[in-house]
Formats: sequence, C-alpha cells, structure tokens
Amino acid sequence: MAESSLRSGLTIRVIAAALALLLLDAIACYRIAAHFANLVYDRWLIDSTRSLAQALRIADGEVRIDLPEVALQIFQFDAVDKTDFRVDTVRRGLIAGDAALPLMQGRPDGSVRLRTATVGGHKMRLVATTLAEPRAGDLATVEVGETLIKRSTLMTEILLAMAAPQLALLITALVFAWLAVSHGLKPITALASAIEARGHDNMTPVPELNLPKEARVLVSKINDLLARLERAMVAQQRFVADAAHQLRSPLAAVLLYAERAERAADADSERQALGGLHAAVARAARLSQQLLALARAEPDAAAERALTTLDLVSLARGVGEEWIPRALERNIDFGFLAPGEPVMVAGNAGLLGELMSNLIDNALRYSGPRSRVTLSVEAAPAPALAVEDDGPGIPASERERIFERFYRLAESSADGCGLGLAIVKEIATLHRAVAHVSPGSDGRGARFTVEFPAPAREAGREVGRETAREASRATAA
Ligand SMILES: Nc1ncnc2c1ncn2[C@@H]1O[C@H](COP(=O)(O)OP(=O)(O)OP(=O)(O)O)[C@@H](O)[C@H]1O
Ligand SMILES: [Mg+2]
Repeated sequence: MAESSLRSGLTIRVIAAALALLLLDAIACYRIAAHFANLVYDRWLIDSTRSLAQALRIADGEVRIDLPEVALQIFQFDAVDKTDFRVDTVRRGLIAGDAALPLMQGRPDGSVRLRTATVGGHKMRLVATTLAEPRAGDLATVEVGETLIKRSTLMTEILLAMAAPQLALLITALVFAWLAVSHGLKPITALASAIEARGHDNMTPVPELNLPKEARVLVSKINDLLARLERAMVAQQRFVADAAHQLRSPLAAVLLYAERAERAADADSERQALGGLHAAVARAARLSQQLLALARAEPDAAAERALTTLDLVSLARGVGEEWIPRALERNIDFGFLAPGEPVMVAGNAGLLGELMSNLIDNALRYSGPRSRVTLSVEAAPAPALAVEDDGPGIPASERERIFERFYRLAESSADGCGLGLAIVKEIATLHRAVAHVSPGSDGRGARFTVEFPAPAREAGREVGRETAREASRATAA
C-alpha cells in the first residue's frame, strides 16, 4: 500500500475543491460574458433594423426602399462580421437585399423578433421587424443578419479579463491552504520528533501540552501503551532476576558437592557428596526445563503455533499412561476417568501435554504415598480437565498465589522450583481456558480444574452429553 501523508492528502483535497470551484466559476463567467456580448450586439442590430425600416416609402401605392446603393453598401460594411439584409412585402416579395437570408415573419405591430440561424455555413444572428402599410394595403418585413465573430471575440476578451485575476486568487488561496496545512501539522511533526528523540527504554508518558484535541487522543493512547509496556518490561526484568537467583542456588550446590567429592577422604563421604551433586544437578535441570516450558507458553512464542481441533480424552489418556510408573513407584492409586466419546477442543497437543504433566507431577509429588490421584476429562457443561488428589490440599488463602511464578507453599519439599502452575496458567490462557484449584470432591485434598470455552452448539445435536464413562486405575498390588 502506498504510504499516505496527511499533508499531501489534505492538499490534494483542497486543490480538488479549488479546481471544482474554478470549473463552476468558468461556466458562470462564460454565461455572463455570452449574455452581455449578445445584449450589446443585439441592441446594435435592432437599431440597424429600425433605421433600415425608416427608409421605407410609399410610391405609386407600393412599398419601396428609399436608400441609394452607396448608403446600402455603407450599411453592409463591417471590417469583422458579414452583415446582410432583406426587405420583403407581402405583395411583391423580395424588394431589396439578399434572398439567401432566411425570411422571418415579424408581428405587424413594429416589435422585433430575434433568432440565431445557420446561413451559408455561418452562424448568424437575425433581427426582423414587420410594418403594416395601410396606404399601400401591404405588409413589409425588414430583416438584418450578422455573423457572430465580434460577439465571440468580445466573449473571449471578457473571459480572459475575468480569468486572470481569478487564477491569481486561486493560486493565492492554494498557497494559504498549503501554509495552513503545514501550520496545522506542526504539533504532529513536533510530537514525532519528540518521540524519535526518546531513548528506547524511556517509558515516561509523552507530554500532552500544547497539542490540539485530536492529537491529544493519539498521545493518550500512546501513553496507555507505554504504561502497559513498562509494566510488562518490569515484570520481565523481575522474572529474569528471579530466574537467575533461582538458578544460582543449585549451581552453588553443584560446586560445593563437586569440591567435597574431590576432597573426600573415604568412599562413604565420596558417595554422599556424589548423591548431593546428583540432586543439585537434577534441580538445575528441572529449573531449566521449566523455564524453557514457560518460554514456550509465552503468548509471543505460542502465537506461531496453530491450535488444532483435538480429542482431550485420548490426549489425557496418553499423558496419564506416561505417569503410571512414577505413581507405582510412590504407591499411589492413579486413576483415569473420561466420557466414552471424544471431547473435542481447539488446542495445541504439545502445550496441553505440558499442562497435564505439571498437574499430575504436583499431585503425585505433594499428596504423599498411598494417596489417590485421579485424572479426569469432562464434556459438559463445557470441556474440562481435572487432576484431583486426597493429599494435604491448598489452604484457601494460597489458592490464587500458587499460580504465580516461583511461588511455593512454605512446607513444600525442596525439589520444585515453583514454575509448574505458572506454566499451567499461561497455557490455559492461551487456550482461552481457566485454571483454578478447589478442595477435592469429599472436601479433602486438591482438585485442579482447567475449563475450556464451551463449543458452539450444532443444530439438532447436544454436544458433550455423557453417554458412557471410561474409568481405569493403576494401583500397586
Ligand atoms: N496437588 C497439590 N497438593 C498440594 N500442594 C500443591 C499441589 N500442587 C501444587 N502445590 C503447591 O503449590 C506450589 C506451586 O506448585 P508449582 O507446580 O507451581 O511449583 P513446584 O511444583 O514447586 O515446582 P515445579 O516448577 O517443579 O513444578 C508447590 O510448591 C506446592 O507447594
Ligand atoms: Mg509442580
């Protein structure tokens, strides 16, 4: 798309309006010029016709024209236009002048008639007057015709005389319009330079002083955006600082245990140091894995991944199966509950797998040995996914905060990094789903639920009504 400029846009509109005005003005000028040119020359032509009519005489009971040939020639002489006349009587027909002029019958009251006609290939203005001659018992018509050269010359002169000052007026108006547009745009130009001159990390609001109302709206929107950017930047900086801080402690432990292993005096203390080293490396690995998962769930990174329609039941079954060995290892009764038919949602399988894994990991980790953990999928009222356990549960006062990054309950064991539920929340948001925690169904333990948006209802079909349920449990014997 071509780059659009406010200045050229406005100027083009002003010029277009001025040209339209000029055109209207030219039409009006032409009409006025034609009116006055005709008025002046018609009067002259009428005078000529009347003077010719005065030369009519009655002799021997007949109408005659009483003008010497020379006078007629003088009458006809014109340096520019061709002038012709004819005099006719009812009884004798043409008595003088040129038969080529079309005869126009006037009214016998001496008034004149005017018209324009083409004679011998030239346009002519014709004037006729008819006189009754009672003495001769006859009617005489005197007609004079003249080509239009003088008239059009006069019209052109009037037009030129009017056009020059009007053109000057138009040019002056355009110059003023250009200056006015430039002046009007000055605050915008100044605003652009002020924004350009700012440092890339300067998030202070752009001053709205001295700006016109329209530009103030723009600036207030820019300031809103800057405020949001600043909040995001501060959160990002805090996150990076927290992440670096969290990574430092397992790395310091790695160093400590490595030194101990090197300096171990006997095989027993060496084994102990290596155990510590293993645990510290595992924590560092878990932290970097969780940080990566969080980065993948960030809206910017995930925006490129398209959501596809997938079956929540088969996805949950697959992810659940991967966790059976861990559940058996901890003596946990791990169950799966789902409708007998697919539950379709718009989602990203990789991200949703990550979400389920974090919830199952927490349940297996925090509910303690010999507890009961159930992964379930529900179809109604809207698709949902839940992981429930009968462990210690989450105190009501902590149910919001545990979804924050790096937040852990005080009594938690040392090997988590506090990112799992933040990842769950981030992935849920991406799927326009809501993640929350409540006590388990019998008031014990914790139930983490992720509710997806309800699918659009298809005509004639109840979506998601449960017909049969699939249930399975993996329990150590
Ligand atoms: N099912 C649960 N029962 C009891 N407490 C839980 C449960 N799930 C989470 N929590 C508490 O919430 C805290 C935050 O959980 P989250 O998964 O975000 O972090 P984490 O498990 O500590 O670390 P990681 O990032 O490795 O998962 C946990 O430390 C734990 O105290
Ligand atoms: Mg966790």
